[in-house]
Amino acid sequence: PRVAVIVVAAGSGTRLGAGSPKAFVGIDAHTILRHALRGVFDAPEAQVIVVAPDDRVGDATTEALGAAGGRRDLVSVVAGGATRQESVAAGLAAVWADVEIVLVHDAARALTPPDVFARVIDAVAEGSDAVIPVLPVVDTLKRVADDVVVEPVDRSVLAAAQTPQGFRRAVLDGAYRDAAADHTDDAALLQSAGTQVRTVPGDERAFKITTTADLEHARALVEPVPR
Ligand code: CTP
Ligand code: MG
Repeated sequence: PRVAVIVVAAGSGTRLGAGSPKAFVGIDAHTILRHALRGVFDAPEAQVIVVAPDDRVGDATTEALGAAGGRRDLVSVVAGGATRQESVAAGLAAVWADVEIVLVHDAARALTPPDVFARVIDAVAEGSDAVIPVLPVVDTLKRVADDVVVEPVDRSVLAAAQTPQGFRRAVLDGAYRDAAADHTDDAALLQSAGTQVRTVPGDERAFKITTTADLEHARALVEPVPR
């Protein structure tokens, strides 16, 4: 395929505090990773690279093959690193030679609908080097220091960044080759390298499972509505 999706799932889930790495925590009968991969396999066809904690590569392979159905040939699983950026770098090293567009997706955004992937892929295919899904900020924001409000912040100029983030493969490879500092997402790394980052509409269901409240929200969304 022309597209690869790197699903980063090598984090420990400290804030969730579930006792096992976050990607392997159950939402319902299925794990966060399995749900995330369902969305990936329902999206346009791509090589799928799962980046797992180094002692969970076997478990991640089981989840990936389960989600892949008949497309086991598309799956690779590699061990991640100590930071998200290191985990993405490990995934990038496994991208097949003919791939032109690379998406990087947080496994923790387990309920991301397939059409978000399609929007991001289309925008890169149309010529953007870097594309991220965003949502408008809904909260009233304040700049604070030492428990005191310094000033209100105009939310209309802000956006909340989600994943999958999509990149022209050569541009992402180059940025990772030259990366010095650690960045919280790939768009920040690319932007620091001077690449223009375009936005497309995100989706509320692409929220990141970070805390127990987020996990409860995910559980409510996947639960069949009682009748
Ligand atoms: N991630 C990763 N490798 C790391 C750190 C994070 O692959 N060394 C992945 C996580 O698995 C997750 C995504 O990056 O899918 C976003 O990270 P985050 O939500 O912060 O997950 P964790 O780092 O696992 O959680 P926490 O920060 O609470 O420990
Ligand atoms: Mg983290």
